[in-house]
Formats: sequence, structure tokens, C-alpha cells
Amino acid sequence: MANIIGVINTSHVPAIGGAIARRAQQEPYWKPFFDGYVPVQKWVAQKRPDVVVTFYNDHGLNFFLDKMPTFAVGAAPEYANADEGWGIPTLPVLRGNQDLSWHLIEALVDAEFDPVTCQEMVIDHGVSLPMALFWPDQQWPVSLVPICINTVQHPLPSATRCWKLGEAVGRAIASFPGDARVLVVGTGGLSHQLDGERAGHINRDFDLRFIESLVSDPRWATQYSNYELVEKVGTQGIELLMWLAARATLDEARKVHSNYHIPISNTASGLLVLEPAGN
Ligand code: DHB
Ligand code: FE
Repeated sequence: MANIIGVINTSHVPAIGGAIARRAQQEPYWKPFFDGYVPVQKWVAQKRPDVVVTFYNDHGLNFFLDKMPTFAVGAAPEYANADEGWGIPTLPVLRGNQDLSWHLIEALVDAEFDPVTCQEMVIDHGVSLPMALFWPDQQWPVSLVPICINTVQHPLPSATRCWKLGEAVGRAIASFPGDARVLVVGTGGLSHQLDGERAGHINRDFDLRFIESLVSDPRWATQYSNYELVEKVGTQGIELLMWLAARATLDEARKVHSNYHIPISNTASGLLVLEPAGN
């Protein structure tokens, strides 16, 4: 039986990849950010997951504005990083976990989610940067199942819908007949707006309340429509939907670690590690 060992939610700003490539982790700008991941690396090494299920948004590599699935699940044998030039230049390919992928897809269709299934899929900074932050030697000890949620082209799925998707994925992982220690990851956010009149918009109060809510009152953010969320956290801040989906794979959870740092690029970077309560 598969077991969720925990959830990590993290931002995925592409400039992090540039900093990793330049080995800039100790520079004053980057140190408070990278220091936040040291406890995560220790926790992950101790928990020894063998599969990562990552909720992320594709940034134009697999789907562009002409064809945009609301939900898509990877079922590929492997995933190469194909970021558009501003990530880490060379990154080892990630192994897929096709058995778990197809199990999740079947369970999601049963639960009336009907995702697009991707037997070929490339990944971008939304998947690769968290991996490189958790395993800095880039010798991935895990396989991958990527789950893509559209936060790029409106209409976007609501916070409530993303929560329900996460719950369905959590149930599906629990019913996987194979043995697996699963780490669930949600990547994106927190508040940021990359263009338009409000470029650079950051809402520290909301971000901190949101992080805290995922421990004490995890459905709190589902009270908001996507328009309200965009108003609060910016057009790209809506990537926080991934954090909600990932959180929903667990029932009661306790906080292992969190970090919040402004800014990385134009973005508020957040980090939250959760374990199932009782572990
Ligand atoms: C930035 C943040 C993102 O989430 C992203 O996908 C691209 C760019 C940024 O802050 O630069
Ligand atoms: Fe992004």
C-alpha cells in the first residue's frame, strides 16, 4: 500500500535555477532563501520517499494558449527538463512511475475529474526547481508523477475544485496496490504579478495567513473566488491553487517547517512542510 509521508509546498521562481547554476546560494541576496531549504533536505533524507507526486502549472512547454487542459496527469516513462533557457542548464532526466500514474488517472476518471493523460511530457521550473532544492546533488532517488493544473489561461479551476482534486489524489494514492513512500509537492506562488499596472504586487499579510491556514484551517482559502484570489495575490499568485491541492491529499497535518522571504525576483517565496498528524 502506498503511504503519503508528507507534503512540501514551495515557490518555483525561475531565477532560483540561475542561482543554483552560478552556485550563488551564499550570496546575501540568496542566502535567506536557500537557508530555508536546509531543514527540508534533512527531513527528506530522513523520510526517504521513493515517489514524488507534484502539482504544478505548465508554463507553456506542453500546452500553450491554443490548447489548455484544466487538469493533466503525466504517464510518461521519463521527464526531461525543457525550461526555456533561464533554469538550470543541465539537469538529469527524472524517471516516471507509470504504474502510479495510471492508477491515479483511473481513480481520477472514476471520481469524475477526466484529466488529459500525457504519455510524453517535458517539465519546467515548476517541477525541476523543487527537486533541485530538495536534492541539491541532483541524483534523484525518486520517480515522478506530475499533475498539471491550469493557472495560465482563464477560466481556471476554482480553489474548491483544486481542493477536491487533491482529496481525490490522496484517496487514489492510499488505494495504490504497490508499495510506495509518496512525497506530495505543490509548487508556485506565493503572491506575485509579473506584468501590468500591478507588476511587483506582493501581499505579505495574505501569504502568511494562507500558509498558517494550511495547518490550522486548511480549506480557509476555498472561501475565495479566483477573481478575489487574483486581487489579493496577483495574477501569477493564483499558482497558490497548487498548494491547496497538495494539502488536500492529507487529512490532519502538522507543520514540520516553513519559510517566507521577499522578494525573489518579483515574487514572495514561501515554503511549507507538513506531515500527517500522528506520524
Ligand atoms: C517568476 C515567477 C514564476 O512563478 C514564474 O513561473 C516565472 C517567473 C518570477 O518571479 O520571475
Ligand atoms: Fe510560475
